[in-house]
Amino acid sequence: MTLPRRTLPRRTLLRVLGGSALALPALGAAASWAGRRVDTWGRVSFDRPLHTPPPAPSRTDRQGRRVFDLTIAEGRTEFTPGRPSPTWGINGAHLGPTLRAARGETVRINAANTLGEATSLHWHGMHLPASMDGGPHQMIRPGHTWSPSWTVHQQAATLWYHPHPHGRTAQHVYRGLAGLFLVDDDVAPPELPHRYGIDDIPLIVQDLRLTDGLLDPDEPMAGTTGFLGDRILVNGTLGPYLDVTTRRLRLRLLNGSTARVFRFHLADHRGFDLIATDGGLLPAPHRTDRVQLAPGERAEIVVTLVPGERVVLRSSDPDTGAGFVQRDGGADRFDVLQLRAAATLTPSPRLPARLADVPRIPARTAVNRRTFELAEHTINGRRMAPDRIDLTVLRDTTEIWEIRSGDGTLHSFHVHDVQFQVLTVDGGKPPPHLSGWKDTVLLPPGTTMRLIMRFADYADPKAPYMYHCHMLYHEDQGMMGQFMVLDPGQTPTAPATPIAPHAGHH
Ligand code: C2O
Ligand code: CU
Ligand code: CU
Repeated sequence: MTLPRRTLPRRTLLRVLGGSALALPALGAAASWAGRRVDTWGRVSFDRPLHTPPPAPSRTDRQGRRVFDLTIAEGRTEFTPGRPSPTWGINGAHLGPTLRAARGETVRINAANTLGEATSLHWHGMHLPASMDGGPHQMIRPGHTWSPSWTVHQQAATLWYHPHPHGRTAQHVYRGLAGLFLVDDDVAPPELPHRYGIDDIPLIVQDLRLTDGLLDPDEPMAGTTGFLGDRILVNGTLGPYLDVTTRRLRLRLLNGSTARVFRFHLADHRGFDLIATDGGLLPAPHRTDRVQLAPGERAEIVVTLVPGERVVLRSSDPDTGAGFVQRDGGADRFDVLQLRAAATLTPSPRLPARLADVPRIPARTAVNRRTFELAEHTINGRRMAPDRIDLTVLRDTTEIWEIRSGDGTLHSFHVHDVQFQVLTVDGGKPPPHLSGWKDTVLLPPGTTMRLIMRFADYADPKAPYMYHCHMLYHEDQGMMGQFMVLDPGQTPTAPATPIAPHAGHH
């Protein structure tokens, strides 16, 4: 797809409008906002200390499980001093605490929903039984508690959690329901910065729009990818700075936006090391000066600071090929976070040359190849139907999924249950930032990617997993499908309608 940039927006808009009546509200929004470009470089005052999501308290029950208690509730948050805005949060008014568990541990999470509507909590990036996944079939009705439990069987990684109600995910996330879930293991190199809140800092980056200090709960639609805000929240803080006391700083970046792609870099374009992607550490640090994240993606970077300096983490216009247009935020630039280095910095160890074993999954082990075309709010021409299983996979087998973008906009393809590897991008070898474990990938217009994944351990003929676009507006419009992992001889049972929760409440 090499249409000149200027002709693409209108074509895309027409296609979206032609594609569905549900997309009609886009017309008004797009018309008023066409040509508008957001640029906050040099215009953010960085006058508020960065909030760090607190570690979630846990206890050990009689069966030795690590138990977390989470309460989903309405609250009020002063994004702007003196102007409390209604928000939603988990164990607080906005966002949620950081869950943490080690490989091999069994966790149990009691998630109580005190909202006036049903929601769910999905453990994004976690390998776990489908009935514990927290997708649209594990809704938590108002006043109910859902208590999933599973054993962590994956390498150290920065995962996250958020609701997954069918058709309502963008709103629930935008109102504040999201948090991190860190997995630890005992093979991650100890030289990596790992003191949470000191030299190991989570950054949940989200765009938003405030009217008079208030979050618009209806999360207005903007571009073809969904809602685009004009300000940035980091861990819920507007205009944040971070006091740094160590020479090296590990930043765990999560793009928790509903539709925006970020291209992070430091204002002076200094180099840093990319050490991990969605599902864990890379084989070796990758020296670069920028990292681009679509909604749902994570990256861990290690930045080196000079005593006494101030440097700003920024996002500039994403680099996504010919089709990414201004109306989808393709020309927007943001100041994100100011790092303030102390006059003396504690020395940090050098990064090891090798970080982790990432054994390549050999393409010849795949027993199946499938193709998925993402276009016009559908995957392979179909919108999500909660009572339809789109495909089934045999437990403990490997498959290659070829994903293709079939329209002029951006997608962010995500698969539940697995961490996959990128085999090829447009037929070629994937770039270094796609050389590790991934569960979500940015799919620019006209791109084809081949992903390889193994569906290990869990089969269930009653509960499906999801695959979908993580542009949450696209997901809510139906750019999602369901798969089941089965044992030989099992046949799938069509799941009940998702709003009637059928599992796990006591
Ligand atoms: Cu982060 Cu199906 O979701
Ligand atoms: Cu997920
Ligand atoms: Cu999409």
